[in-house]
Amino acid sequence: MTFVVAACCVVGALVAGATFRYGAAAPLAPAPGAVPAMATEDYGRRLIAHTAEMLGPDQSDDALRFTKSRLNCGSCHLATGTEPGTLTLLQVPEHYPRFSGRVGASTDIEDRINECMQRSMNGKPLPKDSTEMIAMASYLRSLGAKYQAMGAGQKQPEEPAAFKTPPRRADLDAGKQVFGDKCSICHGADGAGLLATRDRAKGYLFPPLWGPDSFNDGAGMHRVLTAARFIKARMPLGGPDLTDDQAFDVAAYINDQPRPEMPNLEKDYPDPSAKPIDNPYGPYADDFPVDQHRFGPFAPIDAYYKSLKKAK
Ligand code: HEC
Ligand code: HEC
Repeated sequence: MTFVVAACCVVGALVAGATFRYGAAAPLAPAPGAVPAMATEDYGRRLIAHTAEMLGPDQSDDALRFTKSRLNCGSCHLATGTEPGTLTLLQVPEHYPRFSGRVGASTDIEDRINECMQRSMNGKPLPKDSTEMIAMASYLRSLGAKYQAMGAGQKQPEEPAAFKTPPRRADLDAGKQVFGDKCSICHGADGAGLLATRDRAKGYLFPPLWGPDSFNDGAGMHRVLTAARFIKARMPLGGPDLTDDQAFDVAAYINDQPRPEMPNLEKDYPDPSAKPIDNPYGPYADDFPVDQHRFGPFAPIDAYYKSLKKAK
């Protein structure tokens, strides 16, 4: 008993010290991990905002080390998914359960969270009955009611016109130029991002776009058209102003850089004809080369699948 009290005091002192040092930067009260976790919506929201810190490779409790990237869910689902538009999470409740071509089966919200855990976060799945999964899923379910309550005007995304795929192969050299002009100031010349503090355990202020701390090659963001859609809508953060051509080329340039590899990708999409046209790995239900699935031109692939559907 005495031991428990003493341990509490030590933890308390550490937390107080940490709050003092990072108090200005982190609106996290209480600090993550300081109190026993409960599966509340608020805990779920914090997990989505501070995933690297709470579930990442530097988490002091190794039972909570689930992700190998040092991204947050919120690195892509901006404002923890509460903004309408690209990669919003507001409509998650109305999208599930649904059939997933990638899995080849019906999936629920928990399955979909675990897809991002294993791909975007390069980690392992959370047990469905874990406090962390229940908290994240109940946070996402709570967004459904929030979305319902929004007026038509509020539901309208504040974004540039949606990305339209240029009718050509992406130009990697042009993409490198765009990256240097528009992205490297935050994401770093080497794409490796900028840590939030000197302590890597706190995650990134500007997340890495490639390299060991980024998403893996099985992630949705590793599809050129998905990345280009997000980039055109949201980047540079706070002032998205890229043309379709720039978004396409810079997405391809990022896509061409090294990143963690996901095992068993060939088992995705039991029916390969369900693969999106920009899926960067085979096998495919067509004869177009991998390079064309990665970088385009996409119009011929698109036309091929449309004609198949018509023939059916
Ligand atoms: C590297 C970027 C990235 C990160 C990090 C990321 N996601 Fe995603 N997420 C995506 C993309 C891309 C999609 C697919 C969107 C689509 O299909 O149009 C997606 C889809 C989802 C969906 C389904 C949305 C819907 O309405 O159907 C959920 C739920 C989700 N993510 C949750 C999470 C959670 C929870 C985390 C953290 C554990 C996370 N994501 C981390 C990129 C990311
Ligand atoms: C002003 C700083 C800034 C600039 C400039 C910027 N970004 Fe970002 N970007 C961010 C931040 C911050 C996030 C994560 C958002 C969050 O955590 O709220 C992000 C997230 C991303 C992500 C998803 C997360 C990841 O690590 O993969 C991609 C992809 C991305 N940016 C691409 C770009 C591209 C391409 C450009 C240039 C066209 C660009 N960004 C310019 C700040 C910036």
